[in-house]
Amino acid sequence: MDAKHLGDDLTVVLHTEAELHARLAEMAREIEADYAEEPPLLVGVLKGAVMVMADLARELRFHAQMDWMAVSSYGKGTKSSGVVKILKDLDADLTNRDVLIVEDIIDSGLTLSWLKENLASRGARSVRICTMLRKPEAMKVQLDVEYVGYDIPADFVVGYGLDYAEDYRNLRDVAILAPHVYGGDA
Ligand code: IMP
Ligand code: MG
Repeated sequence: MDAKHLGDDLTVVLHTEAELHARLAEMAREIEADYAEEPPLLVGVLKGAVMVMADLARELRFHAQMDWMAVSSYGKGTKSSGVVKILKDLDADLTNRDVLIVEDIIDSGLTLSWLKENLASRGARSVRICTMLRKPEAMKVQLDVEYVGYDIPADFVVGYGLDYAEDYRNLRDVAILAPHVYGGDA
């Protein structure tokens, strides 16, 4: 069988599975404290946030309701317009809900900036953001992010839900993708 190895195209492991889990546990304690009155509705952004959501939700010591959205950004790679198309909308009514968006990574911040406003406009009482990873150097908009796992360099990373052309999502660690894979500079 010509099985493709997960590890061949990776350069550096940025964060191991154990580190990600340990950091998520710390974030969960903060979230529990901040939402002591009423648990938030966790809103995951498909598909990348699946792993973060699964691990964060199980770490939280309260009833963690989950809902999901799928969005796609227009103009990616050329000019990020920040215009987002909803591919799959939430099932839940957000009226008077405290919403916690759960994301894998914030790059330019344009997608989440749009999403935060969109969810707030549906009558949510509050909308906060929790992301496993953030690339501060790549951010193009001012965006308040309440819970950040790790700030990372602006390299292209994969694993723990993050893909390149739909591959690598099931890698347990977060690793930098070798530039030769996507034709970038080393
Ligand atoms: P932005 O913050 O609007 O630029 O877009 C964030 C989205 O781009 C994330 O939800 C990912 O789907 C994708 N993305 C950004 N950086 C990376 C990366 O390093 N690896 C994989 N996907 C990424
Ligand atoms: Mg994503």
